[in-house]
Amino acid sequence: MFRKGDFGKDFKWGITISAFQNEGAANEDGKSASIWDSFTSDIFNINDGNAPGETSGFYHNYKDDIKLTRDLGFGVFRFSLSWPRIIPDGKGRSNQKGIAFYNRVIDSCLEEGLEPWVTIYHWDLPQCLEEEGGWTNRGILQWFSNYVEIVTKAFGDRVKHWIVMNEPMTFVGLGYFTGYHAPGRNGIGNFLKAAHHATLCMAEGGRIVKKNVKNSEVGVALSCSYVKPANKLFFSRGAATRVEGLLNRFFIEPLLGLGYPTDIMPALNIIKSYFLPGDKERLAFDFDFIGLQYYFRVVAKFSLFPPVLFATEVPPWQRKTNLNSMGLDVYPKGVSALLDFFAHYQGIRKIFLTESGVCYPDFLRGDKINDARRKKYHQKVLKQVRKAIKRDIPVAGYFVWTLVDNFEWREGFQPRFGLVYNDFKTQKRSVKSSGRWFKDFLRGD
Ligand code: BGC
Repeated sequence: MFRKGDFGKDFKWGITISAFQNEGAANEDGKSASIWDSFTSDIFNINDGNAPGETSGFYHNYKDDIKLTRDLGFGVFRFSLSWPRIIPDGKGRSNQKGIAFYNRVIDSCLEEGLEPWVTIYHWDLPQCLEEEGGWTNRGILQWFSNYVEIVTKAFGDRVKHWIVMNEPMTFVGLGYFTGYHAPGRNGIGNFLKAAHHATLCMAEGGRIVKKNVKNSEVGVALSCSYVKPANKLFFSRGAATRVEGLLNRFFIEPLLGLGYPTDIMPALNIIKSYFLPGDKERLAFDFDFIGLQYYFRVVAKFSLFPPVLFATEVPPWQRKTNLNSMGLDVYPKGVSALLDFFAHYQGIRKIFLTESGVCYPDFLRGDKINDARRKKYHQKVLKQVRKAIKRDIPVAGYFVWTLVDNFEWREGFQPRFGLVYNDFKTQKRSVKSSGRWFKDFLRGD
C-alpha cells in the first residue's frame, strides 16, 4: 500500500460537489429556474421518479458540510456556482442574495482552513437563456462572459483556483445530442453548435479569470473514458478510435491551439460552418492546469447506428465486468492510460483528478455503512495515480466525487457516490467506512 507522503507534500486532496446536485433551495432568495429545474419538473425525466426537492440541502447545511470536509482531512473544497442564483435573468445584473450565499461558503472554507476551488459552470444554465437557444445561440458568449466578469470580481479576492467549466462533453453530448440530459435537445447540428460555443466560452472564461484575479490558477474539468475495441477486427478498432477521439480529444485539442480533431470523422467538419473570423485563435487558451474526471470504461464496436459515429458500446452487462449502480463498467486501472494520454500533449503542465468516485448501493446498519467496495475503488485509482507520479506524469491532486450522497441528474437519488451517507428525508449524515478510511489515511504521513 501507499502512504499520503508518497504523493508529495504539495499534492492536493479535495472533495467536489455541485450546485444543482447539492444546494436545493431552488426558489429561495431570488434564484430563477435552471434548465435542470425545468427538466426535472417532468417526473418522467428522472429515472427513479423522485424530484430533486432539497437534494442534499447544502444551501442551508453548507457550514456543516464544509466542517465535515475538514474533519475528514481534506484540504480543498471544490463547489460550483449556480448561474441562475447569481444572475436570475441570465444576462444582466447580479442578485445580491446569491452573491452573499457564495461569500458565506467561501468564508466558511477559509475559516476551516480549506482552499475554495470554484467551478463557474456545472450544467445549470438559466432556463430563460435556454428559451433563447441556450448553448446553441452564439449570444451565450456575451452572457457567459458577463457571468464570469461578475463572479471573478465578486470572489477573486479570496478564490484563487478557478475551473471555468465542468465536463463540456457530458452536458453538450447528453443535453444537445442525445437529449438524455437537460435541456433534452438532440441532433448533430445542435451538438456541434453548442460544442463550439462551449469551447469558445471556456477559452474566453480563462482569459477573464486571468484579467480579474491576481495570482489565479485556472483550468477546465474534462470527462474522459478508457476505450477498448470489442475485438481485434479492423472495424472494431476503427469504432474504438472514433469513440475515443470524441470522448477524450474533442475539447482539449482546440483549447491547446490544435483545432477540433476533425480527423476522427469527416462529419465533424460541419463545426467549421459555425466559425466567425478570429474563432480559430479565440478557441485556444493557455490553462494553468486541466482537471480530468474518469468514471467508466467503454468497449466499442462497429454499428450503423448512430450514423456519423458508426460505433456503439457493447453493453457492460453483456460482458463479465464490475458494474456500478448506474450499470457502468468500473475499471480503476483505466486511469493510468488516460493520465499518460493527456500528459503527452505539450501544452498540459499540470493535471488534477478533479473528480473520482463510484456509486454502489449502500446499506445502513444502525448508523453505520460498510462500503468496502467504494474504499477499494479509491485505493485502486490512487495506486495508479501513485505509479503515474513515479513515471513523472504531473498529477498534482485527487478530488473525491463526492462528500455526501446527492442528486445524480437524470438518475435521481438512487446512485450513491458519497463518502458520507445521506438520509434524504432528514438530511442526516453518517460517515461511511470509505470516509473513515480517508480520514485515517489523510491524517497519516
Ligand atoms: C459529473 C457529476 C456527476 C458524476 C457522477 C460527473 O460526470 O461532473 O456531476 O455526478 O460525474 O456521475
